Amino acid sequence: MQLTAIHGDITEIKADAAVVNLFEGVKQPGGGTGAVDRSLDGAITELIADGEITGKEGQVVQIHTFGKIAPKRVVIAGLGKRERFDEDTVRRVMGGLCRDLRSKAIKKVTTLVHGAGIGGMDAGNSAQAIAEGSMLGTYTFNKHRTTAPEPKEIDQLSLVEVDESKLEDLETGLERGRIIAGATSLARDMANEPANFMTPSDMAATAERVAGESDLEIEVLDSDQMDGLGMGAIAGVAKGTRQPPKFIILKYRGDEEGSERHLGLLGKGVTFDSGGISLKPALNMGDMKGDMSGGASVIAAMGAIGKLKPRINVTGLVPASENLPDGNAQKPGDVVRAMNGKTIEIENTDAEGRLLLADALSYGRKIGMTSMVDVATLTGAMVIALGHVSSGAFGNDQGLVGTIIEAGKQAGEKIWHMPLFEEYKEQNKSDVADVKNTGGRPAGSITAAQFLAEFSEDTPWVHLDIAGTFMASKTNGYVVKGATGVPVRTLISYILSQAETSAKSE
Ligand code: BES
Ligand code: MN
Ligand code: ZN
Repeated sequence: MQLTAIHGDITEIKADAAVVNLFEGVKQPGGGTGAVDRSLDGAITELIADGEITGKEGQVVQIHTFGKIAPKRVVIAGLGKRERFDEDTVRRVMGGLCRDLRSKAIKKVTTLVHGAGIGGMDAGNSAQAIAEGSMLGTYTFNKHRTTAPEPKEIDQLSLVEVDESKLEDLETGLERGRIIAGATSLARDMANEPANFMTPSDMAATAERVAGESDLEIEVLDSDQMDGLGMGAIAGVAKGTRQPPKFIILKYRGDEEGSERHLGLLGKGVTFDSGGISLKPALNMGDMKGDMSGGASVIAAMGAIGKLKPRINVTGLVPASENLPDGNAQKPGDVVRAMNGKTIEIENTDAEGRLLLADALSYGRKIGMTSMVDVATLTGAMVIALGHVSSGAFGNDQGLVGTIIEAGKQAGEKIWHMPLFEEYKEQNKSDVADVKNTGGRPAGSITAAQFLAEFSEDTPWVHLDIAGTFMASKTNGYVVKGATGVPVRTLISYILSQAETSAKSE
């Protein structure tokens, strides 16, 4: 889909469909929709009066123009209640609407810039949301089908604006949206990819490609190099698989001579989680091909950051391994030593994500990260606590937790603050080592986060548990069934916001 912004009158531009909009409860449309209504002799107003067009969020009503105006059809998109309208509404509406138009084999679409008139939204933000919603809503993953079920695609989506002075903002917003949606789609692709096509080596190869496209420095450590650094926790997980583990390091330097700040993004890269010797049940085990979603989101976000070029220094770390049972696999009761010197008793080999992150957090501290945000499909308990609606945030720095939650709001990704009280540490105590890798059933997500806190130590740190949000069971708005790409957009929004705040404080 080609996205453009053009200056003109939407009634005079040829298209298969021209998209206008309506807030719920409005009887007499104004702005661009009002102009289209007048050129159709009040057809829209009449359909509103008849109750056929309500403006309810997600409603899509199509009317044919039969030569009255240049577009063949006018599509009225319901924006819902004006009080609840924001960028995420635009994303949701455009996602559903574009799938609808695609199913009708519509190729050339023009649209008003939703909310930019009476809605009071910044035109650039609206353009960005339109790009994100339309691209993410029409996302497909068909590379392994020999007969693709949905060959149709919208060729062109043009934002039409009467006020020429807004065009530059629209272009900027569209470009941001393209980059951010592209990154989200990449993370979706990586997580949707079957585990036999997305091994740790495949993840590293993808990261190499991203680095090339986005001007990032990349380094991939192999197991000998990891051993040399004392990364015994990752080594333990990787013992049971024939696939060599990889430790992926992506560097973006947007502020070489400036601030001392060095932001870290870390992601769990378990390309398949069978549970290891503590084997998982067979039901839905295939979903665990997506247990590298945290790592994928870091690689994808780093790619977008390299393209958006904020003035800040960011490093992404992705420890990648499979978690499988075999004759050489690590066993319950084993003890391993993490890079920061702490010893860990393996109580359950299925609690492998925290082991990979233990070494990654230690490494982040060693290379001087001044703050760290890790992302992981870490615990089934997170799904019990927050379901599939919201990710959980845990941290040792309330300010940073707030910043991440706010970045999530901007991006339209829900994040809820979870507690990290000292008392929970008790459950991770081991009889034989410094700490054990499980804390029992009560508060399983919190004890997992408390385990990570042993390795982030006194560096400001936030842990995002995305076990409930990495995958969607049904298509809705701009979410397509399968991998969601959460929290790529939050990570990008966070880094951009940090570059702005450090620019202001100088
Ligand atoms: N990858 C899983 C967590 C998970 C479960 C993610 C469901 C997404 C959906 C993780 O490695 C795991 O197995 N965690 C265990 C920890 C337990 C053994 C302490 C869990 O949650 O059961
Ligand atoms: Mn596991
Ligand atoms: Zn896992």
